[in-house]
Amino acid sequence: MANKEIEYNFKSKNFLILGGSGLIGSALIRKLANFKAKSITNLDLRKYNHTYKFYNYINFDFNKIVNFKKFIDKTFKNKKIDVMINTLYPKFENWGQSSFNHISYENFSSHIKINSDSFFWSSKIIADKMKKNKSGSIILMNSIYGIRGQYLSAYKNTEIKENMTYPIVKGAMSNHVRQMASFYGKDNVRINSICSGGIQGLNSMTDKTLSKKFLKNYNLRCPLKRLANTDEVVDAILFLSSNSASYITGINLPIDGGWTAV
Ligand SMILES: NC(=O)c1ccc[n+]([C@@H]2O[C@H](COP(=O)([O-])OP(=O)(O)OC[C@H]3O[C@@H](n4cnc5c(N)ncnc54)[C@H](O)[C@@H]3O)[C@@H](O)[C@H]2O)c1
Repeated sequence: MANKEIEYNFKSKNFLILGGSGLIGSALIRKLANFKAKSITNLDLRKYNHTYKFYNYINFDFNKIVNFKKFIDKTFKNKKIDVMINTLYPKFENWGQSSFNHISYENFSSHIKINSDSFFWSSKIIADKMKKNKSGSIILMNSIYGIRGQYLSAYKNTEIKENMTYPIVKGAMSNHVRQMASFYGKDNVRINSICSGGIQGLNSMTDKTLSKKFLKNYNLRCPLKRLANTDEVVDAILFLSSNSASYITGINLPIDGGWTAV
């Protein structure tokens, strides 16, 4: 279970969260508020409210990435970005039709583009900004499917189908992290990703909780025999954000109950 004993000092760190209104992002914001982060800025299409005095929600659509640099330069004109965490899940209405047998070219290419814009181009813009301060940490939400192909037996006789695009964008993310770490290391900008296994909560493909059948199939394959909880994923993000991880860059860290070990 998630470790409740670690105390981080985030009082001097400004956090920028992309997609902070979702399952993982909102759990992250609640923890950062508990740790009294210097400031937390959340960019998302959907609003997420929090009473923390130094929390700020701004509506931003990553489908309009051409405006991102200008927007960041203006919003952070007088403020450093110490840590950027990307918990976006960019998708369009036809995301559920992304299995090899049903996907259209339009579906495929639009999802490749929006994931590339949301994760790869945005992190380049932020790293360039951090470079000027000679410090920064970037953490991207990746997946076990950024390391492995999908395990089709988990989907057998369930509501979930395999997805052609997801492992492509997450696999590319793993090497984007390595390449960014290679290029921005000299500027003391670190970049890492979290390769999470399935997390308890609503399934973002179906907007429903995962069925018993899926869980049974998943647990058979997973050494710890269960899904992750959001705290376990968020705690790993906090560690990579902190000064305790000052010599860690270019890794894709599995938080997966051993899924990628077997
Ligand atoms: N939930 C899981 O089981 C799980 C497992 C492994 C990896 N992940 C990864 O973690 C990340 C976050 O997952 P989640 O479950 O918290 O997702 P989520 O759907 O709960 O949250 C994603 C957020 O992104 C926002 N968003 C989507 N498109 C946007 C756009 N164009 N502009 C601005 N905001 C936009 C949504 O409004 C939402 O608040 C994803 O990248 C996902 O692949 C999730």
